[in-house]
Order: sequence, then structure tokens, then C-alpha cells
Amino acid sequence: MRIYIILLLIVSLYYRGTVALQLEFYPGTQAYHQTGSRFNNTAWIVVSQDPSERYLTYGPYTNAWNTTASSRVDFYLGVDNITGDSSNLLTVDVNDADLDHILMSRNISRLDFGYGNIQSQIFSLYFTSTIGHKLEFRVFYHCCSSIVHYKTVVNELDGGGLADIFIGQAGLELVSSSVFPTPQGDPSSTAMWNVGTYIKPLDGRWYVFYREGFYAPTPAFCNGIVPLTRIAVRNSTDFGKTWSEPAVVALPGNSTFDNCAALDGAPFFDNDTDSWHYLAQCIGNNRRWSLCHYSRSGRNPMSGPFIPNPKNPVVQGGQLWSRICSGTGKHCTLTMYDEGTPEIIEKMNGWFYITFHGWDGPNNKAARGMARTRDFVNYDVAGYDLPNDAIFSPLDCNTWNITWNPKSLCVGGGEGSMVKSGDYFYHLIEAPDGTLNCDTTLGEQNWVLGLLRSPTLSARSGEWEQIHFNPAFKPAKKYGCGLQYHRIFRDDNDFFFSMFVIDFGVNNLTMKIWKVVPGKTNFPVIVGYP
Ligand SMILES: *[C@@H]1O[C@H](CO)[C@@H](O)[C@H](O)[C@H]1NC(C)=O
Ligand SMILES: *[C@@H]1O[C@H](CO)[C@@H](O)[C@H](O)[C@H]1NC(C)=O
Ligand SMILES: *[C@@H]1O[C@H](CO)[C@@H](O)[C@H](O)[C@H]1NC(C)=O
Ligand SMILES: *[C@@H]1O[C@H](CO)[C@@H](O)[C@H](O)[C@H]1NC(C)=O
Ligand SMILES: *[C@@H]1O[C@H](CO)[C@@H](O)[C@H](O)[C@H]1NC(C)=O
Ligand SMILES: *[C@@H]1O[C@H](CO)[C@@H](O)[C@H](O)[C@H]1NC(C)=O
Ligand SMILES: *[C@@H]1O[C@H](CO)[C@@H](O)[C@H](O)[C@H]1NC(C)=O
Ligand SMILES: *[C@@H]1O[C@H](CO)[C@@H](O)[C@H](O)[C@H]1NC(C)=O
Ligand SMILES: *[C@@H]1O[C@H](CO)[C@@H](O)[C@H](O)[C@H]1NC(C)=O
Repeated sequence: MRIYIILLLIVSLYYRGTVALQLEFYPGTQAYHQTGSRFNNTAWIVVSQDPSERYLTYGPYTNAWNTTASSRVDFYLGVDNITGDSSNLLTVDVNDADLDHILMSRNISRLDFGYGNIQSQIFSLYFTSTIGHKLEFRVFYHCCSSIVHYKTVVNELDGGGLADIFIGQAGLELVSSSVFPTPQGDPSSTAMWNVGTYIKPLDGRWYVFYREGFYAPTPAFCNGIVPLTRIAVRNSTDFGKTWSEPAVVALPGNSTFDNCAALDGAPFFDNDTDSWHYLAQCIGNNRRWSLCHYSRSGRNPMSGPFIPNPKNPVVQGGQLWSRICSGTGKHCTLTMYDEGTPEIIEKMNGWFYITFHGWDGPNNKAARGMARTRDFVNYDVAGYDLPNDAIFSPLDCNTWNITWNPKSLCVGGGEGSMVKSGDYFYHLIEAPDGTLNCDTTLGEQNWVLGLLRSPTLSARSGEWEQIHFNPAFKPAKKYGCGLQYHRIFRDDNDFFFSMFVIDFGVNNLTMKIWKVVPGKTNFPVIVGYP
């Protein structure tokens, strides 16, 4: 039989003119299959009547991948049905055919697909290979489903717009510095309560979500817990120099888990369903931190309060950490709890990926972890593209160029903010010594921000690449929480860093925002006044 191969080699132009390799394969145009049949000209399909436990696609034995750069292969796959068990449907791999050596592989279950009814979804593998060797990008079919393989695309990894700042070869331009509005009647002792900000650009406008206390008297049952606090949002059309009047996003409820506060969460606009989500920390007179979820349809988050999820609290303290930290070789302990400062990183294949901090009081350790959810009610901590471990722990910050308190060293990570740039997730995360609580006495506590990146969210603590050398940001005066509620975000093709800069000596609370621009940066950036 004559084997014909159509191989499209596309050399595309990427960020700032660097030439990146790309290969694209269409399984329906190739002969490398052990089961299934051609589907819709260029794709390949297997149905449950077809032979199982064999390659849906193998080959194409290409030696065109003539780079040793970090690379990614994307398999475009669809499945009939996504309900059922978590057994392996498929195994995808990258095989060095000259050595007959699997460079990377991954199992995929029904549950890893976000959509049923045969819709194309992307599953990625990261690899590096040897120049001149023939490579295969294979999809092994285990059993019992209809599956379509649409195409396979191989790319050299690209750091995107943040690649240069990661190595100090880009600058930071201050675009705004605002004394953030605090409501009237805010007692001066807590004048710094209205923080917890999260900036989300949408439709040419920036929305800042933040916590707002003292909008009404705090009920007696919240005394000693937190002031009555809600989530509000304002908009800006001038990079945060000025902000509109606020609108309410999420309010404390009437239950013991949420009757004092909703705060320190993150918004997410889901373009697929045209709706907003907000995931917050909530607390009531039960005195226990949980996570609560709120949502609203439409593109404008200011058009009325979000609806609380009837299943709130959607995460109870310790619920996710106890699963993440169980088992051997983990970078956190079973006594970790306090799923807080949640962030919704992205929606991929119908799954929302979220990160959150954890605090282990008995061991004085902090970490950041990850989970995924389709509905904000049920969460997986293990599965496709999940680390099933902490993503940041003392292991990641103890080597930073900081004279850590010798008694505690770096206790781990707290609030973190992640953005995707090119093929990488960039993570800006705070790391203190002593404790995860703010010590606001001058000179007592180190509290700095580090910048790390990984092409995959499944990277565990210790596997994230660090800038040379962390920390990336350091407060001019050594105050615990001197830099707070930092974010890293994208607006169109521009990237921004924002944070509160706090001088507890003069009770000054300023939100500063920088844009990444051409230039140079010497880390750490020392942030202070004015
Ligand atoms: C078949 O291919 C055509 C053209 O690319 C596309 O419009 C159509 O949606 C495909 N059908 C299925 C079932 O994937
Ligand atoms: C890799 O292959 C491409 C296309 O064949 C070619 O243009 C390029 O020069 C090659 N690069 C190396 C390092 O061999
Ligand atoms: C989906 O697959 C599961 C597991 O094989 C099966 O139990 C279930 O009946 C299927 N559902 C549909 C709608 O086909
Ligand atoms: C895939 O699943 C099989 C069977 O459970 C297991 O032996 C193998 O290690 C898994 N492969 C990967 C890459 O996780
Ligand atoms: C911006 O905020 C102002 C003041 O609350 C409001 O009137 C306006 O509708 C907001 N615009 C958008 C697009 O959210
Ligand atoms: C709490 O209860 C009060 C009085 O019944 C009601 O007015 C208010 O709307 C309730 N709030 C929420 C968030 O359910
Ligand atoms: C958002 O959804 C709209 C309408 O469905 C679509 O036209 C647009 O391309 C989507 N934008 C992004 C960034 O996916
Ligand atoms: C570490 O920080 C000190 C100042 O605290 C600085 O002099 C030194 O150059 C830094 N080392 C590196 C490798 O950046
Ligand atoms: C606080 O900081 C802002 C911005 O840097 C500055 O304009 C203001 O004068 C400062 N206020 C005090 C009391 O130091």
C-alpha cells in the first residue's frame, strides 16, 4: 500500500519578529491508524464498535522538529459523552521513534473533557526533543467511546509579552497612583480596610473589584471577627487614575457562614456563557473562613448585585487542602486549611482553574494550591493539568535573595496572581517570614513578591521557573503587608502590575499600577513613596 502523507509545515511570525517553528497534522490525510475511520475529510473517528486498545493515530515520524527549545503539542480531540467514571479513554504521547522512547505522555478520561457531543477541545503535552530524531505524536484509544481526532499542532514555546520582563529586559512605567477611596465613617484605625482589589479589563474599560467595609453598622455578632464587608466594583477609562462611583457585587448573607463578610476574591468574565463569576472568601458568626460563589449574566458587572450560589459555602475551610496534601511527596501537610484569596485563572475545556492560599497554623507554613470546577460547587484537585500538590511552598522562596528571619525562614506563599502570556502562566506571589499575618511594626517582617512561570498548570512546588533573582518587588520600608493585593493582568496586548503600597508609619495606602514597556529592570524593584 502506498502511504501518502500531507504534512503542512508552517513557519509563523510571533511576538516581536522571532521566528517560531510550527507543525500541523491532519489525521484524516494520513495512513497511521490502527482503529477507526476517516471523518469529515481531515479528521479521524473511532466508535465503540471499533477495535479497542490500539492507536487511533500514530506517526508521522517527522524529523522537521529541528529545535531543542521547550515545545508543546496540542491534540484537538472530541468525545461523545462526558459523564461517567474517570477511567482512561485515551493516552496521548510524544515518542522519539529513533530511540523508541516516550518523551512525555498523559492519560485522558471522559471527565477531562468539558463538552460532550463531539466538540473539538485541546489537550497539550510539553516536551523537548533531539534534533534530527523522528518524532511521533500518538493518540492511543483504550475503550468504549466515540472519539474524534481533528488535528495535531506542534509549537515552540513562546514567553509572549512578559518574556522580556522575566529576564529584566523590559521596563515598568508607572501609569497611575491613586489614593483609593474609602467610605465615609471608616474609623481611622481601619482606614486601610478597603483593599482586596482585582482589576479586570473588559470592553475597553477597567473594572476594579474590591472589598468595602463600613457601608452599614457592623452587627454585634461580627465583633472580633471582621467589619461588615461587601464586594463592590468601580470602572476606569484612564488606567486607574480615576475610578467611577461603585456598584455592589456581593453582599454578606443571612447564614452563619456569610453573615459578616464577603471579601478578597476574584472576578471572571466567562465569554462562552456571557456571564460574570465572583469567588470570594466568606465568613459569619461561625468564625470560619469558607469560599462563596456569586454570578450574574451580561457583560456589565455594574448592573446589579450578583446572585449568591444556593450551594454556598461552595468550599469549606480545609476541604480542598486535605485532599491536595494527602499522600506522599507533597509540599504541604494535612493540617493545612483556610482556602483563601481565590483567583480564577482560566476556563479551559469547560473547567475553571482556580488557585487559593492555604495556612497551616500548627506548623506555621503557607502554600498556594489549585483545583478545577465546572460549576463552582464540585472541585477536583487531581486530574488533567492539575498538580495534585501545592504550586508554591517554602521550597520556592527560601532561596530568594532575602535575609529571612532565621527562626521561620520563608513561611511560604499567600495571595498570588497569575496571567497567561504566550504559552506560559506567569505567577506573582507574596512570600513573608514569621507568619502569614501582617506584622506592621517597622523592621520586623520581610514581605516580598516573587515572579515565576510555567507552561503548564500541573507544575508542582519546586517546578516553577524563577526570575534571576527573586524577589521581583520589595517594599522600600520593611513592613509586613507593605505590598499588598498585587495583581498581574493583561489588557489587549499590554501587561500590567498593580499593588497597594502601604506605609503603616503614616497610614498611607496607595494603589500603584505599572505597564510593561521596552527598557530594563533590575530586580528587586523597590517600591515606596511617593
Ligand atoms: C465538517 O467540516 C466542515 C468544514 O470544515 C465543518 O463546517 C463541519 O462542522 C464539520 N462537521 C463536523 C461534524 O465536525
Ligand atoms: C529547521 O528546518 C527549517 C525548515 O526546514 C529550516 O528553515 C531551518 O533552517 C532549520 N533549522 C535548523 C537549526 O536546522
Ligand atoms: C456516558 O458514558 C457512561 C460511561 O460509559 C455511561 O454509563 C452513560 O450511559 C453514557 N451516557 C450517555 C448519554 O451516553
Ligand atoms: C496512565 O494510566 C495507567 C493505568 O492507570 C498508568 O499505569 C500510567 O502510569 C498512566 N500514565 C500517566 C502518564 O499518568
Ligand atoms: C461606569 O461607572 C459609572 C458610575 O457608576 C456607571 O454609571 C457606568 O454605567 C459604568 N460603566 C460601565 C460600562 O460599567
Ligand atoms: C437577609 O434578611 C433580611 C431580613 O429578612 C432581608 O431583608 C435581606 O434581603 C436578607 N439578605 C440576604 C442576602 O438574603
Ligand atoms: C466572545 O463571545 C463573542 C460572542 O459569542 C464572540 O464574538 C467573541 O469572539 C468572543 N471573544 C473572545 C475573546 O473569545
Ligand atoms: C542580593 O541582595 C543584595 C542586597 O541586599 C545585593 O547586594 C546583591 O547583589 C543581591 N544578589 C543578587 C545575586 O542579586
Ligand atoms: C500618600 O501617598 C500619596 C501618593 O504617593 C501622596 O500623594 C500623599 O501625599 C501621601 N499622604 C501622606 C499622608 O503621606
